[in-house]
Amino acid sequence: MPRYRNTMNVDKASNDPAISRRSFLALLGVGACAGAAHMMGAAALGYLYPNAMKTPPSVFSIGRPQDVLATEGKVFNQKYKTFIDVSGGKVRAQTAVCTHLGCTVNAVETGYSCPCHGSTYDLLGFNTGGPAPRPLIYFTVYQGASGDLLVDKSREIQDPSQAWFTPTV
Ligand code: FES
Repeated sequence: MPRYRNTMNVDKASNDPAISRRSFLALLGVGACAGAAHMMGAAALGYLYPNAMKTPPSVFSIGRPQDVLATEGKVFNQKYKTFIDVSGGKVRAQTAVCTHLGCTVNAVETGYSCPCHGSTYDLLGFNTGGPAPRPLIYFTVYQGASGDLLVDKSREIQDPSQAWFTPTV
């Protein structure tokens, strides 16, 4: 008569392992189901969370208007590879990503210079030398509902004079 092995009927006299193959596979299946249910639950909760509360990944804050306007001139934002330019109560944001192959440009006395292949740009960001095919573009700056100044990298502006934003303090 064959002996069937399961967790309820383990022959203690034999030197069987503490857990049978069947039990192990059953546990593995339960674990996989629990993991899948957890992921589906997280996705469902994310779906129920209001979208209006989320900031798109292309948008980032540069701070309160009074703090931003307190710094006159050009400041490099390392995290978002963007130059924040403040002048006379207005602010604009310009990319620091070289239009050749994407290196980060440096601000120099004559404008910008790329350390990778030597592209140069003038003070407004127009390409003046090297392999860079296009100027450095500007991003839309606006004031969010919280009052913070926001930069939207998905809304590009080609004309430097159109890129200025005047916040209300
Ligand atoms: S990446 Fe800037 S010149 Fe090539």
